[in-house]
Amino acid sequence: MSDLKITFPLTKLPDVDREGGMPLMKALANRKSARNFSSKPLDLKTISELLWAASGINRPDGRRTAPTAVNWQEIDIYITLKEGLFLYDHKNHALKGIIEKDLRAHAGRQHFTETAPVNLIFVSNYNNITGKYADNIEMKKFYSATDTGFISQNVYLYCASRGLITVVLGIVDRDELKKHMNLADQQHIVLSQTVGWEEP
Ligand SMILES: Cc1cc2nc3c(=O)[nH]c(=O)nc-3n(C[C@H](O)[C@H](O)[C@H](O)COP(=O)(O)O)c2cc1C
Repeated sequence: MSDLKITFPLTKLPDVDREGGMPLMKALANRKSARNFSSKPLDLKTISELLWAASGINRPDGRRTAPTAVNWQEIDIYITLKEGLFLYDHKNHALKGIIEKDLRAHAGRQHFTETAPVNLIFVSNYNNITGKYADNIEMKKFYSATDTGFISQNVYLYCASRGLITVVLGIVDRDELKKHMNLADQQHIVLSQTVGWEEP
């Protein structure tokens, strides 16, 4: 699996073993933030599992490993790799190539984002928040932040289970990153999360 390559415009991700990983109580006991990342890349199978754990589809009706209010599914997961910027395509369990440029340095304001192999960027699409909150920015912010928290914790637990390290980042220059990512007006960066192997 580790020789599979990330390619533009689309990389189909390998299937996920839903029986794998360590017992939940052990993963909870190991969950922590850490920042001493090595630059060693993640193989595609690990990226596949990471994204599925984060908020992959886990039921035939298209619902996901992380809940969202009203099932809005408003949080998109972008991923910055050395190879470029990609968007997780939940339906096809694939990576869509977005920009063929290394944007890792912009994923946060701490130096490790630049060399760590993976930064996830959680982006809320406010257009998905419909109904009575369609014109309520405060509630859009509130639900986007809440729904991102569940995804982030899934990432923390997957990392604990897989022996990876991670830290979620609120200190992000959102305006600058949004420009680098060519995001649309209705797309709002909530948090980033760096993932990688621990520097030995
Ligand atoms: C919403 C949120 C934003 C955070 N932002 C940052 C950040 O920008 N940089 C950082 O190094 N850690 C950040 N953290 C990690 C916290 O510092 C960390 O979770 C806290 O110190 C507790 O440590 P633990 O996660 O190991 O339990 C953030 C955590 C949360 C929940």
